Amino acid sequence: MEVKTSLLDNMIGVGDMVLLEPLSEDSFLENLRKRFDHNEIYTYIGSVVISVNPYRSLPIYSPEKVEEYRNRNFYELSPHIYALADEAYRSLRDQDKDQCILITGESGAGKTEASKLVMSYVAAVCGKGQEVNKVKEQLLQSNPVLEAFGNAKTVRNDNSSRFGKYMDIEFDFKGDPLGGVISNYLLEKSRVVKQPRGERNFHIFYQLLSGASDDTLKKLKLNRDFSKYNYLSLDSAVVTGLDDAASFRTVKNAMQIVGFMEDEVQSVLELVAAVLKLGNIEFKPESRCNGADESRVKDKNDLKEMCELLGIEQTVLERAFSYRTVEAKLEKVSTTLNVAQAYYARDALAKNLYIRLFSWLVTRINESIKAQTKSRHKVMGVLDIYGFEIFEDNSFEQFIINYCNEKLQQIFIELTLREEQEEYVREGIEWTNIEYFNNAIICDLIENNQNGIMAMLDEECLRPGTVTDETFLDKLNTVCAEHQHFESRLSKNSKFLNDHSLPHSCFRIQHYAGKVLYCVEGFVDKNNDLLYRDLSQAMFKANHSLIKQLFPEGNPAKVNLKRPPTAGFQFKASVGTLMKNLQTKNPNYIRCIKPNDKKAAHIFTESLVCHQVRYLGLMENVRVRRAGYAFRQLYGPCLERYKMLCKRTWPHWRGPEREGVEVLMADLQVPTEEFSYGRSKIFIRNPRTLFFLEERRRQCLQDLATLIQKIYRGWKCRTHFLLLKKSQIVVAAWYRRYAQQKKYQKIKSATTVVQSYTRGWQARKLLRELKHQKRCEEAASTIAAYWHGAQARRELRRLKEEARRKHAVAVIWACWQGLKVRREYRKFFRANAGKKIYNFTIQRIMQKYFLALRRTLPSMSPIDKSWPARPYRFLDAAHAELRAIFHLWRCKKYRSQFTEEKKAVYEEKLEASELFKDKKSLYPSSVSQPFKGDYLEISKNPKYHKLSSCVEEKVLLADVVNKINRANGKGASRILLLTKKNVLLADQKTGQVKASVALPDLASVSVSTQNDGFFALKLREGSASAVKGDFLLSSEHLIETITKLHHIGSTASDDGVRLNVDITDEFLVQFKQDKVCVKFIQGAPKNGNGASCKRKNNRLLEVSVPATA
Ligand SMILES: Nc1ncnc2c1ncn2[C@@H]1O[C@H](COP(=O)(O)OP(=O)(O)OP(=O)(O)O)[C@@H](O)[C@H]1O
Ligand SMILES: [Mg+2]
Repeated sequence: MEVKTSLLDNMIGVGDMVLLEPLSEDSFLENLRKRFDHNEIYTYIGSVVISVNPYRSLPIYSPEKVEEYRNRNFYELSPHIYALADEAYRSLRDQDKDQCILITGESGAGKTEASKLVMSYVAAVCGKGQEVNKVKEQLLQSNPVLEAFGNAKTVRNDNSSRFGKYMDIEFDFKGDPLGGVISNYLLEKSRVVKQPRGERNFHIFYQLLSGASDDTLKKLKLNRDFSKYNYLSLDSAVVTGLDDAASFRTVKNAMQIVGFMEDEVQSVLELVAAVLKLGNIEFKPESRCNGADESRVKDKNDLKEMCELLGIEQTVLERAFSYRTVEAKLEKVSTTLNVAQAYYARDALAKNLYIRLFSWLVTRINESIKAQTKSRHKVMGVLDIYGFEIFEDNSFEQFIINYCNEKLQQIFIELTLREEQEEYVREGIEWTNIEYFNNAIICDLIENNQNGIMAMLDEECLRPGTVTDETFLDKLNTVCAEHQHFESRLSKNSKFLNDHSLPHSCFRIQHYAGKVLYCVEGFVDKNNDLLYRDLSQAMFKANHSLIKQLFPEGNPAKVNLKRPPTAGFQFKASVGTLMKNLQTKNPNYIRCIKPNDKKAAHIFTESLVCHQVRYLGLMENVRVRRAGYAFRQLYGPCLERYKMLCKRTWPHWRGPEREGVEVLMADLQVPTEEFSYGRSKIFIRNPRTLFFLEERRRQCLQDLATLIQKIYRGWKCRTHFLLLKKSQIVVAAWYRRYAQQKKYQKIKSATTVVQSYTRGWQARKLLRELKHQKRCEEAASTIAAYWHGAQARRELRRLKEEARRKHAVAVIWACWQGLKVRREYRKFFRANAGKKIYNFTIQRIMQKYFLALRRTLPSMSPIDKSWPARPYRFLDAAHAELRAIFHLWRCKKYRSQFTEEKKAVYEEKLEASELFKDKKSLYPSSVSQPFKGDYLEISKNPKYHKLSSCVEEKVLLADVVNKINRANGKGASRILLLTKKNVLLADQKTGQVKASVALPDLASVSVSTQNDGFFALKLREGSASAVKGDFLLSSEHLIETITKLHHIGSTASDDGVRLNVDITDEFLVQFKQDKVCVKFIQGAPKNGNGASCKRKNNRLLEVSVPATA
């Protein structure tokens, strides 16, 4: 789809009639037609939207279209009702101006559709959210409910609004809808009981019968057949393109969304059913004795069902249809009703029931959709009132409807034409007045309080005496005859006297939209709008809460004898209030035009459209717009809006606002003929200038947005940077703190160490000093002690000396005394008494000594060296002697426990000790080893049986030795046998004797001083055994072997020469002819701890002995 970006883009005809050239009625109509043919149904006159009913759905109301027009300038895109709705909504939201959308046009021109489009657009663009959506939904869904009860098919419109509707939608400061208030104006209630030919009753009757379930219909005691109901005209019950059943479901759903309770919906349907039933009640005359006819209900079935539905007592209602009670002051007069009066009463009840139900519905909807908050609201009013009507038979309703349209035309003229022109004069703009028709005169004809038609009607209704429609017409003929817009057959206005087309019972008003002939029949009744009190009281008695509510005047406790205000009076008052309300708001106009009378698409009946263009005053509208200025604005808002377009006014203009605008326009180089400066406003002649300003503003806003973005980004980055910097400082501070802490801790610990060292040093110094002091003190003490000691000893010596001297003196004295005594008493003692005492004393002492000795004798171990200390010095010799005796005795005792073998063993051990003690390192380890001798148990072991048999003597030693091979120093296992005469070497495996050396042939044995088991058996030179040379052997029992050899060798030799045992680390061994030196060296400890022998050269065998630990 082609997207238009400007009103001027791809324009079909002219989008804004202000730009039409040349301007004439023909060109105006031609432009409308051309645009209509191209599906361009909307055209502007400045800010007024002309809408031509296309009678078919056009693809111009999609959500994409809504988005396209959203927040766009009014003249930016091609004309659309959305542009007007957007403009109104934005000025409401942004400029805080209450708005009203005035939709006018004749019946079927598309007012209701336009109002729905406006509401749906506003709902689409305003705020969203759960609560807001609910409000929107409720506002939108109020339409189907009200349309079902208030719209009907007429000859002009299949969905004609039969009531006027003004809806205030309330918004909060953000532009979110809060709720709404609906005002309804005069429902055409006569339709309930009678419809003109080709028209229908209100939709709800047909919808209920077509769409309700069988069950519901049964409950409501209804029949699906329309023909069963007198109130439903039959000739156009079914309307093509209207699905009543589907609409019924929509209505029920809408009622639920709006907030009707289940039982409320049910009550409403019961009332609708009751109205249908009421229509079926028929009456028959019954003659009374006074000759008058009294009406009686013909067939009571419908009455019964209706009463059951509404919970009314049948007899009460029945009586109300037969009698009428008139109360005047304290009097009550009951009159009978004839059949005609009964029918009148029935229809009045039906109409009242329906109209009150409708009003209740509006109140109930208002209750649901009213704004919940009390805060100040912004208001957008949408007025969709019945259009101007000219029927064949025009009655009171048409009179009222057309009066309302006159008032709306008046307000349009007021605000667009008169107000506009007056504004130019007020603002001091040069202006040539444009003539236009002001319909104030017609309004005055109808509504004037003294002699207006409505005032006349009311006067007639309230007048005592016989009042008929004719008397009313007469009155009109007298009062209004002079009025140029009033015509009647009897009018005094002579120019109409000859008009025979005017029937007698009619009058004609020349409305702004044409002449309308009104038939006065029913005017008085309809204006009175009376319902017999008996009927309202019967209704009040109903056991049905809704009915009770609808007829409060039926309450006998609230009987009011005052006449209620007439219908005309009420309507005039509510229209007055509406007009006042509209005048406080910023008006937005949608002028609906009906292209043809056939309700058909694509047909543009020029004469019909021309008529509408004329009476709507559209040409005058264009002329005023063209002669004047397309756009005006107060200097303040204008400067505020466009000041960014000029460097001098941006961002602030300090001077007067007008001067600011002047500077701005001069700077923008707008041609001077394009605008004028008024007293308080600037007037812009051409919309294009406005587009230009808006476009510049849009561009400028983009630049400003970029600038703001730039500054914002800069600010954001800087803030971020500062934050980072701050953070970095914090981090650094924390890190420094941490580092300093560490450093401090290090220094602290270092200081502590230094301190501790210093303190240690000081302490040690102090300790040293203290020690020194102590030593000094000790030394002093010692010296003192020594000195004291010396003193004491000297004193002791002195004392001893003194004592000795005293003792000596005493002894001498005693001796001398003794001598003296003895000399004196010698004669009395035997000469040897002293000797005896002496001996006795000696004996006692000896006795005591021996007894003590016996107790303290040492152990019996010969090696125990202890001996009790001597008690008396004179026993020294005896004591030593006794010690020697005791030792000998215990040695003897010790020896006496040995056997001969043990003794021999010990002797051998003794001999070994003599031979090796302190000479060979191996010796200490052998001391604890017993000398076993026959290690191989040669005589017992069968393996050595052969060997033992070769040996004659007793084997003293049998052991495995290694015979060292001189060639490589390696050893070969041999069995060494030692007898009293021989030394034998035998093969270990075979037991074959390899060598036998007679002991006398053995010259000496050489061993090392070290911890090894090597030994060399050296043979006596020249002996028989010496032929093969000496033997170099190694034994694990070297000490025992050599000791035994030495012992046996000594005993075996004839000459008593003992076998030589050389203990040296280097000795010669005669191997056959060669002498080889065997040298023992200390080697590193090896595994097994054994000595190893290595041949170094021909003359040297080196035995490496591991050093013992
Ligand atoms: N914009 C539109 N697009 C398509 N069809 C439309 C449009 N406007 C009106 N109509 C058609 O015209 C019919 C009559 O329109 P609408 O009911 O709005 O007329 P009205 O001016 O409200 O008449 P009344 O005064 O009788 O209520 C609608 O039922 C619809 O079929
Ligand atoms: Mg309508």
